[in-house]
Amino acid sequence: MKKNLKNMLFVRETISTNALMKDIHCKDKPDEGFVVYTDYQSAGRGLGTNSWEAKAGKNVLFSILLYPHHIKPSEQFVISQIVSIAIWEVLSEIISNVKIKWPNDIYVNNKKIAGILIENTIQGNCISKTIIGIGLNVNQTKFESDAPNPVSLKLVTGKSHNRLSLITKICNKIVFLYQLVNYDLLKENYFNNLFRNNGFFPYHSDSGSFNAKIIDVKEDGRISLLKENGEVKLFGFKEVEFVINP
Ligand code: BTN
Repeated sequence: MKKNLKNMLFVRETISTNALMKDIHCKDKPDEGFVVYTDYQSAGRGLGTNSWEAKAGKNVLFSILLYPHHIKPSEQFVISQIVSIAIWEVLSEIISNVKIKWPNDIYVNNKKIAGILIENTIQGNCISKTIIGIGLNVNQTKFESDAPNPVSLKLVTGKSHNRLSLITKICNKIVFLYQLVNYDLLKENYFNNLFRNNGFFPYHSDSGSFNAKIIDVKEDGRISLLKENGEVKLFGFKEVEFVINP
């Protein structure tokens, strides 16, 4: 495992840095910590079937490769926690009100500034590799897709930011937290910086709309919500929607 990030590849354009990382991994099996970053993705991917909008040359778009053999598939949510906390820490050095929106979006004042796409390969009872793709809105000021509530560092601070320096800082934090392997600290840090970690807010699920309070995020990534009627319910990814009025 490299302690510093010497291993970075820049390509001016690619389909998606996660897809490119997959190809590179197949051919070259790079060392853990290898990073690919780009100015433009022709088909940047978000979670599920979503796409990821990012104007050329304006944003942070990269993927980092890890071989987390020591993390069991049942504990894979810890990777989301590591990456969310890393981005949270880097952004919080620049702006205030940064929050981690469950499961792993990064928000500022009710708006999304960064998204994370983690693709794990599971072999037997271990995660043989993970490709972590990060899209952070940096110097883009107009968003045209129907992404619900985007914001960028420039929109928040009024000035431009150096993209490579952000990538380096985020990767160094990821590698640091990854090597620390302190699950309790990660859980606490994640919850402390979670969007809506205090009080009742509106949510929507298959069973309709309701107000609830987040009381926990379990090791498997499910969120535990306390409804106003006292009922506690666990929701997996995509099973509950945050109702947000930006
Ligand atoms: C989300 O939907 O919130 C996840 C967005 C992840 C976007 C990043 S940009 C770099 C990497 N390559 C991709 O195609 N997607 C991720």
